[in-house]
Amino acid sequence: MSNSFLPIFGTDFVEFYVGNAKQAAYFYQTAFGFQPLAYSGLETGDKEKSSYVLRQGKATLVLTAALSPDSYVGEHQKKHGDGIKFIALWVEDARKAFEETTKRGAKPYLKPTVLNDENGEVVKSGIYTYGETVHLFIERKNYKGTFMPGFVDWNPEYKPEELGFKYVDHLVGNVGWNEMDKTAQFYYDVMGFKKFASFDDTDISTEYTALQSTVVANENERIKFPINEPAKGLKKSQIEEYIDFYGGPGGQHIALATDDIIHTVSELKKRGVEFLYVPDDYYDSVSERVGKIDEDLQVLKSLGILVDKDDKGYLLQIFTKPVEDRPTFFFEIIQRKGGESFGKGNFKALFVSIEKEQERRGTL
Ligand code: FE2
Repeated sequence: MSNSFLPIFGTDFVEFYVGNAKQAAYFYQTAFGFQPLAYSGLETGDKEKSSYVLRQGKATLVLTAALSPDSYVGEHQKKHGDGIKFIALWVEDARKAFEETTKRGAKPYLKPTVLNDENGEVVKSGIYTYGETVHLFIERKNYKGTFMPGFVDWNPEYKPEELGFKYVDHLVGNVGWNEMDKTAQFYYDVMGFKKFASFDDTDISTEYTALQSTVVANENERIKFPINEPAKGLKKSQIEEYIDFYGGPGGQHIALATDDIIHTVSELKKRGVEFLYVPDDYYDSVSERVGKIDEDLQVLKSLGILVDKDDKGYLLQIFTKPVEDRPTFFFEIIQRKGGESFGKGNFKALFVSIEKEQERRGTL
């Protein structure tokens, strides 16, 4: 199938360590329409942590919280706040994935481990990426259960409707000053990824703040990881703000793909999800910049949805405010209509908006 030493089928799940997994699960069910799938905790024999697994389309979130005062989950949450611990990749062979990546210099997190139950086996291994964030390799070809051994099906009566999310389009990591190239190099050397795109501070800056970004992708391009680092500006880069509050590098945002962003965003708003404000004059120049699009510009304006185009087509996108107390992790909602880029043309407008938020937080 593939000549890569690390064939990856796609994102298996993203796991957050949070302060209260039960309440976080309710938020993702209620506000984002994720559906309950599986659970582990005291009732399943785990005395250390409880985990809720939610899914919508192919996007799977796991929310995990500590059960005991001295748990490593609690330590992580105390330091970083709620945030991404595991970016799990669905692989053909988790033993080989571990062997090939550690051989190339990856720092091991978990040696290949076989988990069994009556539905078969899952093989799991893991390596560190930026900060305390970990890539798990999940091999599930011999497993028929709902999620993973150790979990039971979770099927509550409460199931708010889905909002049309299909899959994780890309997942962005923030790293510190002068760390971006090193991190991208890790993905090239250790994981066999390639460079997909890059932006520097001439693309992504305003009068005050700036950042740089390199996008790495795996062989089949189902996995795209933009890596951001701060760039010098007159005021504090939003990436620096993130690093300060997160206590180091970490996952900045997940872009969830939808085929109907107008429906998805209308529903998210009804359910209380807050989005970044878009400057009033943004829509004055959209037609000029992107040409003809299928959507009614007035509708996009009323929802604050941004538009950008590249040589392949266009894309529609919008960014939530941070979804926890610290100004760290947020979501992007994206609909691609041929466009394969990341909204470079929107960065300026977006930054003005983010700076307004930073100013209100006193962190600009
Ligand atoms: Fe993004």
